[in-house]
Amino acid sequence: MKLLVIGSGAREHALAWKLLQSPGNVKVFVAPGNAGTALEDGLENLPVTAIPELVDFAKKESIAFTIVGPEAPLAEGIVDAFRAAGQKIFGPIKQAARLETSKDFAKAFMQRHGIPTAAYATFASAAEAHSYLDEKAAPIVIKADGLAAGKGVVVAMTLAEAHDAVDAMMVANQLGDAGARVVIEEFLEGEEVSFIVMADGRHVLPLATSQDHKRLKDGDQGPNTGGMGAYSPAPVITPALHARIMREVIHPAMNGMDQEAEPYTGFLYAGLMVMPNGGIKVLEFNCRMGDPETEAVLFRLKSNLVTLMEHAVNGTLDKVEAEWDRRTALSVVMAAHGYPDSPRKGDVIHGLPNPASVEASETSEKDFYVFHAGTALDGENGREIVTAGGRVLCVTVLGDSVKLAQRRAYEVAEQIRFDGCQMRHDIGHWAINHHRR
Ligand code: AMP
Ligand code: GLY
Repeated sequence: MKLLVIGSGAREHALAWKLLQSPGNVKVFVAPGNAGTALEDGLENLPVTAIPELVDFAKKESIAFTIVGPEAPLAEGIVDAFRAAGQKIFGPIKQAARLETSKDFAKAFMQRHGIPTAAYATFASAAEAHSYLDEKAAPIVIKADGLAAGKGVVVAMTLAEAHDAVDAMMVANQLGDAGARVVIEEFLEGEEVSFIVMADGRHVLPLATSQDHKRLKDGDQGPNTGGMGAYSPAPVITPALHARIMREVIHPAMNGMDQEAEPYTGFLYAGLMVMPNGGIKVLEFNCRMGDPETEAVLFRLKSNLVTLMEHAVNGTLDKVEAEWDRRTALSVVMAAHGYPDSPRKGDVIHGLPNPASVEASETSEKDFYVFHAGTALDGENGREIVTAGGRVLCVTVLGDSVKLAQRRAYEVAEQIRFDGCQMRHDIGHWAINHHRR
């Protein structure tokens, strides 16, 4: 069976790796992939990103189904194009992906369907945004309406910062068209959780919960990033809260999509704030899995991912259940020098474990994996692995507790070296404190 995964990050490496573990003869193409997916047996990189070429490839190779990792191809309409050509693909159509591609659409959608979210207003004029800010107090949050690769949200601790953010987006056009409109919203305090489900248009299958660490530096300091580490499960999500999230967020979102567009298909990721009073509000929707949440979540998945995906593309998710390892999975991102603003490329990576030798280590079970993100093959014979993007590697482990998983992840990460590596040393700290509370 041939499968195709679209994307090039650690999320896509983890998806492809998990698909490969399914029994039977599975071959996974990753487009465009990275050095990790290039080197792994059973995976093959396809150096293609243009949607018409991907459709042709899927037809020519009789790809059983395609999974889309990142948001950009969804925003371009990759699902619409595959479906029009009769090819099976898991993801939302372009219109539904507006839940992620337009913050204003997402906020108005939540309001229409009674989904709890922070109070907000949207502006297309900088002058109006400034005078609105004058009536408000800090902290306050400024969000570019469009996709901005993680750079579109400013949590302003002072009104001066908020005014600067409006000017940067709407006057200096630092984010291009994405910042032509801004959403200004109420600042929420609490603990952030990633709640991801699979939807087949009729049924919803929730995946294990997780928590990301968005700031670059220890103690949640420094600039926002795509995510510096994650773990699953999120201890803050009790069974009662889980049921409430399904009832107040996921089902209303699915019903809303049914009414307004067409039934939602694909992953839906609700970024939630769990507030000190126990209430929940949606910070954002993403139309894909999170990165690095995927790496931690899939590391705990005991079910066959090919089977789950087949049910997902055939509209029969009600016929399957996902089984999870009860242990904690924890992922630590190793990022390049200069990330997130201007990551440096070309630093040689040393000390990477060889996937084959990991398999054969004395521990009967492999308790870690190093997923690749921004890596490329370089050097004389093309066998040297160098940095080629912001987030470079994602070390993922399983442990009997968050503390043990954290210790193991750093043991593995410390074997790997490249110049300028940035990594947080406190991934998991909320969960560890949660157990202490
Ligand atoms: P978003 O892309 O909308 O999830 O925003 C990126 C990050 O900014 C979130 O993960 C939060 O850490 C933070 N954030 C977004 N909205 C708010 C808010 N209303 N209050 C506090 N923090 C927020
Ligand atoms: N880790 C956050 C995201 O994927 O958006």
